[in-house]
Amino acid sequence: MPSLLEQGRTHDCGSLRASDDGREVVLFGWVHRQRNRGGRIFVDLRDRAGITQVVFGPDLHAEAHEAAGGLRAEYCVAIAGKVKSRGENANENIPTGAIEVEGTAVELFSASDPPPLTIADDERLDALETTRLRYRYLDLRRPSLQRNFILRSKLATLTRATLAEAGFLELETPYMVKYTPGGARNFLVPSRLSPGKFYALAESPQIFKQLFMVSGFDKYFQITRCFRDEDLRNDRQPEFTQIDVEMSFATPERVFAAMEELVTRQWRELLGVELPRPFKRMTWAEAMARYGNDKPDIRFGLELMDITEAVKGCGFSVFAEAPYVKGICVPPEHLKSFSRGRLDKLTDFVKKREHGGAKGLGWAKIKEDGSWQSPLAKALGPELCTTIAEQMGAVPGSTLLFVADDFHTTHMALSSLRLELRDSLSLLGEETQWRFLWVTDFPLFEKTERGWVSSHHPFTMPRTEHIPLLDEDPGKVLAQAYDLVLNGNEIGGGSIRIHRSDVQAKVFKVLGLSPEETQQKFGFLLEAFRYGPPPHGGVAFGLDRIAMLMCGADSLRDVIAFPKTSRGQDLMTSCPGPADDEQLGELYITHRPLPGAD
Ligand code: AMO
Ligand code: AMP
Repeated sequence: MPSLLEQGRTHDCGSLRASDDGREVVLFGWVHRQRNRGGRIFVDLRDRAGITQVVFGPDLHAEAHEAAGGLRAEYCVAIAGKVKSRGENANENIPTGAIEVEGTAVELFSASDPPPLTIADDERLDALETTRLRYRYLDLRRPSLQRNFILRSKLATLTRATLAEAGFLELETPYMVKYTPGGARNFLVPSRLSPGKFYALAESPQIFKQLFMVSGFDKYFQITRCFRDEDLRNDRQPEFTQIDVEMSFATPERVFAAMEELVTRQWRELLGVELPRPFKRMTWAEAMARYGNDKPDIRFGLELMDITEAVKGCGFSVFAEAPYVKGICVPPEHLKSFSRGRLDKLTDFVKKREHGGAKGLGWAKIKEDGSWQSPLAKALGPELCTTIAEQMGAVPGSTLLFVADDFHTTHMALSSLRLELRDSLSLLGEETQWRFLWVTDFPLFEKTERGWVSSHHPFTMPRTEHIPLLDEDPGKVLAQAYDLVLNGNEIGGGSIRIHRSDVQAKVFKVLGLSPEETQQKFGFLLEAFRYGPPPHGGVAFGLDRIAMLMCGADSLRDVIAFPKTSRGQDLMTSCPGPADDEQLGELYITHRPLPGAD
């Protein structure tokens, strides 16, 4: 008799139904649970497709029953048996619940130590995140994570098929590249063959995909890893995957159309959701004005109201003198949520640096007669209070919250506050909403202490009519750049690129790069652009972020198989780790003492 392994499995653990009654089957998988009930042994057998209940009895098959008694959680086994309909006793909770398998043979592939995290208790996750990451291969056995990764795999396959059908070529670009400053911080890789020199790990294929356009490949895509040495957050990993796209003869409209086609197909085929097209659009200026944020969550209201003009020169000097005074009007049904204690907490919230670092939070509750209960009421005076309330659409019972500060602080504090209120006041309904938004017309540059820096990257084309402003007033130049935002998450970004060397030279000048520096850093690109570059543009989507949102996860760790911790570590392999002196010697690298070490 051949072994069960040799016979091969007949079904996976998710596919048997009542119509299979009477069938002889062989299943392979892991013991999800094993329990003994009055002499019968029940084994839930699990593989990536699902769970099937197998029952063993001394009356059904004595030898198999005996073997099943020795099974423990996470043993890897083959089980043969006969499908039996459960009729009235069907288990509605699992897709295979209409049947069970009466076990007639057990073949043990391998035993398991007691697992350090319970895989069977998927929904009530008890293990610490450090334990989960240390034993990531076991964590990944959990059905909820298996579902995520199956969806992620389908997402990648569908993306490839869709873009290939639309005429995009899948081409690869190097990971080990020349270090070019400007974007995210790069990881460096020392070169053994050129001692003292370094490669950078590519933060994105940006320059190479543009060179593909010069080469005439016309429409390119790649599902590729990018590497960035950034501080990590729930939606940021040091290595992550982009769906990277570039098109020759592109206009923003053509990029939007191709990408909306891709995204609507992803949602239709993977989630069964029909997204309305075209996606909504909003300029960066409007997004900032209404939501204080360039990736606004438009699933709920609480928009920012501008009262700067109304309070100019008023009796409350903080408001009177601030460049921006804006506020949020919370409708009366939430009045009870704003106790003094809560208002103090919200004030502390907006004062935190990561929430904008505002100097304070002004508040007012509108009383029945329209007057204000507010520490600001006296200083503003009744007339101004009425004007502000009207301007903000307040009614009796409304709560008004204000921040007065510079552009950045005011908007950041109020947009953080808006999201905090979304969560604490449960402003999103039960039903999942998918609100896509193209944010367009970003400023080309941002001002920092180091001077002007590119908001997107230095190859982004300004709006044609703004090209003359590059010399006169760089802060006013708007870019042909766009982000795709979903429910407050930036899931993609791109732009039309500069293909004219005169415009590129002007941009480098604003960025403070001398012609020599430009030549040394980007000479190869500028040289390429001397040979008939087509006008071109593109976009890159964060595949991990799309997968995260599709799965309803709140961290990229739930959709990246082997992620890093917030300190950039892999707890499973203990990485990063030290290199030995011999290795370092070959690279001509010596240790500098670590700060704090003697
Ligand atoms: P950008 O830097 O905006 O553009 O990146 C594109 C998209 O990649 C995702 N993303 C990340 N996801 C996880 N972890 C990270 N650390 C991370 N950083 C970015 C985001 C983002 O929208 N070359 C340009 C694209 C172009 O102009 O065509 C680029 O890389 O979802
Ligand atoms: P003060 O004059 O510091 O006592 O503040 C009076 C009220 O104004 C308090 O409720 C403060 O929280 C609020 N406040 C102070 N500074 C600001 C600011 N920059 N923006 C909005 N409200 C502020």
